[in-house]
Parts: sequence; structure tokens; C-alpha cells
Amino acid sequence: MDEMESIAKALVAPGKGILAADESGGTIEKRFKIINVPSTETNRRDYREMLFTTPGAAEYISGVILYDETIRQKAKDGTPLPEVLKRQGIIPGIKVDKGAMPLAGFPGEKITEGLDGLRARFEEYYKLGARFAKWRAVITIGKDLPTLGCLEANAHALARYAALSQEAKIVPIVEPEVLMDGDHTIERCEEVTELTLRIVFQQLTMQRIVLERMLLKPNMVVPGKDSSKQASVREVATATIRCLRRTVPSAVPGIVFLSGGQSDVLATQHLNVMNQMGPHPWQLSFSYGRALQDAPLHSWLGNPANVTAGQEAFFHRAKANGFARNGKYTELLEAENTELQGTSSGNIREASASQD
Ligand code: 13P
Repeated sequence: MDEMESIAKALVAPGKGILAADESGGTIEKRFKIINVPSTETNRRDYREMLFTTPGAAEYISGVILYDETIRQKAKDGTPLPEVLKRQGIIPGIKVDKGAMPLAGFPGEKITEGLDGLRARFEEYYKLGARFAKWRAVITIGKDLPTLGCLEANAHALARYAALSQEAKIVPIVEPEVLMDGDHTIERCEEVTELTLRIVFQQLTMQRIVLERMLLKPNMVVPGKDSSKQASVREVATATIRCLRRTVPSAVPGIVFLSGGQSDVLATQHLNVMNQMGPHPWQLSFSYGRALQDAPLHSWLGNPANVTAGQEAFFHRAKANGFARNGKYTELLEAENTELQGTSSGNIREASASQD
């Protein structure tokens, strides 16, 4: 099998999913601020090293998305962090976009930057061990938003990135995120997500992306976080699956959801019910940032004495999502680590202003 195809398949292997630990300098600073930890290079390294060396993590974690700084950092014993992951049996990945900036001429909308010089950066990231990559586009729902101009510009950038990624033999994760911010209904989110994905796949086709060698990272279809009408787990699962079946070709090996500001337990429940509704044409897994990290971050609190507690909290969430990825998550499993109860939810919203 082609190398990229087997990496894509390995990333969505049964019972496994991805940890997004690719927060940029600004985002990790916001996360650390909540637990009163200064965002120094050493603290960032110590925190990520704690996650990456969690005993047994590879049972549920197939890959980790790193940030440019992290892929170059070394663990305390001098081992490069990508090597630490590889030794665990985890595939290193890299965020290559340079963030979302205001889109000229489109008030309230953003375009993701980072295409300039990307071919050379991919070459270097491959040498540093990266075998998959991520580029995130953000789509805002609002009055008269999103515009077609914004959707097309972002889809085009995603497709240009994906082409360069495949050229470098790195599996692209294509991430068009329709944001939860706002008071819109779940129906509006479904309409916008469907249109976004249609345009994204149109652009991926135009840029000759090999679908078997990529993964899609979409939002789930949920009401805006300020909507007065919240949806049940089943409603979210039903709308999300309907939307994906309409738009995502079955040649795409896997769909790995972002958590987007949902509480960690809810993100697990949604994934679980969607998998119970299968079989689906693609593997359905996770690529969570906040929903995997909120619990370990609050157990760690920047204190070396809490490393084991942080690792246990991370392992617990990874396991819960590993089971949900097979539709086998239960309340019993959630309660397994009783001493962690209370640490794993509630702070997500504060922590989540934005995730890149
Ligand atoms: P969240 O799961 O916190 O949304 O992060 C995933 C991610 O990588 C966003 O780009």
C-alpha cells in the first residue's frame, strides 16, 4: 500500500484517534493563564512531555499534532520530542498554517495564511519526523455570514496546502471549522457545514488531491453556544452524520472531529453515538485539543509533583474517546477514574476562546 495511505489508515485505526497539541504561542499562553502558569519555553516543553510520555497512551492515541516550536524541542533527557512519540508507537504530525487573519473586503470573516514558502517547510518537517499535517480554516456564522467569497478563499487555501503536503509525502488533515460562536440554531449550522464541505471537496478535486491519502477534520453539527435551543446528543449525531454522508466521498479513509469548545464528556458522547449509528463509509474518530487536554491541564497545574495525576487524567480521556471511537463508551467507563471526577469538565468554555 502507498505510504501516505497506510499512515492515513493508521491514524484512524480501530480504537485510536489523534491528540491535537499544536497550540500556537498565543493559544498555549491563554491555556496556561487559566492555571496561573507562565508560558515559558520550559513549561511548554514540560507540559507536552508529560502528555507524550503517558504510559500506555499509544493504545488509544495514534498521532499527535505538534507546533513548530514543539517539533524542535527535546525532552529533559535530550531525546527530541518527535522521537519520544515514535518510541511510544505514536505518529508525529505538524500544524503548518500560520493562523487566521481578517479577510480583506469581508468584514467579520477570516482567511488562513501560510502558503508562502510552504514547500520548503514541508521538506524540513518531513526530516524532523512529521508524517501528517494540519491546516485549519475558520468559518463564522453570523448575519449574512459566511459569504461565498470567504468559503471559496478558505477552501482554495486548504486545497493548495493539501497538494503541497501530498507532494512532500505527508498526509494532509483538511480542517474547515464552522465555529460554535453565536446564537444560531443547529439547522443553520448544518446548512453552513454542508455548503462548506461541498466547496472544500470541489476545491480538493480541482487541485488533484488523492482522497485516499488525506483525512477530514470537521466540526460536529451543533447549535451556537449562545443558542437558546440546545440539542440532544442524538440530534447532534443524526445531523452530523446526515451532513457528512451528503458531502464526504467514501474514498476518504477517515473523519477526525475537532471538539471546538464542547465539554470533554459531551465530545466523547457525541463520537460514541455517531459510531453506534454505523457502519459508515469512513472511519469516524477524534482529533481533539481541548476535550483531551482540559483534564490533564487542570490536574498538572504546572507542578512537577502532579505529573502522574496529569498523565492519569490524559489517559482516562484518551481511553474514553478510544472506546467512543468504537461506539463502546459507557458511563461506567467515564466513572472509572473516580478521583478525577470534577476535574474533567466545566473549565472548557473559559479555556476555549479559540483553539488553533
Ligand atoms: P479543539 O478540539 O480544542 O477544537 O482543537 C482541535 C484543533 O486542533 C483545532 O484546530
